[in-house]
Amino acid sequence: MAGLNLNLNYSGIQDSQLNNMKEMVRAAQQLLENGAGAGSDFTGWVHLPQTFDMALMDQVEACAARLKEKCDVLVVVGIGGSYLGTRAVSEALKDPMEPLRRFCSRENPTIIYAGHHLEERYMEQLLGAIDELEVCVNVISKSGTTTEPAIAFRMLKSYMEKRYGVDGAKERIVATTDKARGALRTLADEKGYETFVIEDDIGGRYSVLTPVGLLPLAVSGVDIRALMEGAKAAYEEYLNPELETNNCFKYAAARTILQDQGKVVEILANYNPALQYISEWWKQLYGESEGKDGRGIFPASVQFSSDLHSMGQYIQDGRRMIFETVLLETDQNGSLKVNEDGQNLDGLNFLAGKSLKEINFKAFEGTLLAHVAGGTPNLVIELEKIDAYHIGQLLYFFMKACGISGYLLGVNPFDQPGVEAYKKNMFALLGKPGYEAHRQTLEAALKRL
Ligand code: PA5
Repeated sequence: MAGLNLNLNYSGIQDSQLNNMKEMVRAAQQLLENGAGAGSDFTGWVHLPQTFDMALMDQVEACAARLKEKCDVLVVVGIGGSYLGTRAVSEALKDPMEPLRRFCSRENPTIIYAGHHLEERYMEQLLGAIDELEVCVNVISKSGTTTEPAIAFRMLKSYMEKRYGVDGAKERIVATTDKARGALRTLADEKGYETFVIEDDIGGRYSVLTPVGLLPLAVSGVDIRALMEGAKAAYEEYLNPELETNNCFKYAAARTILQDQGKVVEILANYNPALQYISEWWKQLYGESEGKDGRGIFPASVQFSSDLHSMGQYIQDGRRMIFETVLLETDQNGSLKVNEDGQNLDGLNFLAGKSLKEINFKAFEGTLLAHVAGGTPNLVIELEKIDAYHIGQLLYFFMKACGISGYLLGVNPFDQPGVEAYKKNMFALLGKPGYEAHRQTLEAALKRL
């Protein structure tokens, strides 16, 4: 597809190995597209780019415009799939110097995040910082019962009501949640907040192209129509059943082949710090979808060049259980060039006139060859550009490949039963009614702390 290509030339994978996967990938494709596999109740995202209701897009944009009028800062409250997609796209597309520029002119509100951890100092600082600014809140929880965002929202609701009054707060809070169930739905209806629905058949980590991601992204100035257009182009492209010409299926097949060779860790590498949260989102997507029943590739990530001076050592030379997937922006037309220096004490005048983009590309090429020579196969996802359209393509590419990979692995890629264990323990230790016996067992086990 124009815009996104998967290069397997450095993966060590032979065409015959890919050929052997053809039938399995086709079977997985059919399970996914026909909603016939494990977890099929949660495959509403598969056809979403095509079926997306443009009236909902209008509604999201109208709400975003209303919030933009009112605030300098939008606090997005959510955890896991309820915030990582927004953060991934927002950080990839925003101006990294925006916090500095904000004081000069503010076109779009800044997003800050809450409810994705329980750190007290962070919350204190957040509540202090927003006091200086006009604030809106978008609370996002499909279940409406997740503890971390529920606690953060309880505090923010109280803050907003004290500061703006109950009616004023109502105008500044938007809830994105289940259409009928859960504590957040009940509260939102009772308070009269504007709400957006997360459909029953779309799980958190596959929800970035629903109002979960679209609303906060629109508030922050992202072109959400272009994002959806990119996803739609990817949707149409990846209906192609031929493995040889379907990059999404090739990615799913290549990871499976490498895993079977003992490469059980996949590191997503990039050369652009703006993509850090694309990697965080990707880690959640693959980790939560595949890591179950004692199976799954462990997803990790690095940012180069920074991590070439830390994790690069391990990737080059540590245990040989790793493969790397490089997310590479192929547009090399840079305009910021290295200058000539009269003294040349650093010996870098040979680089004068070269753009940073060219140099970064050479860093990629050098690293690729070094890591491959060191026994780390590389898959390269070549992305023409980092803009809303191409990020939309990439998101859909990763989501569809994840569904297919999960089915190739023989797991349900749409549940997350393992997440419950810590929740149960936390509730018991915090004294939630009904957990008394479990609390005693845990407290005995904690004696060694
Ligand atoms: O991908 C998932 O389903 C999870 O990561 C959820 O998004 C996360 O647990 C948050 O759940 P909720 O939106 O119900 O608060």
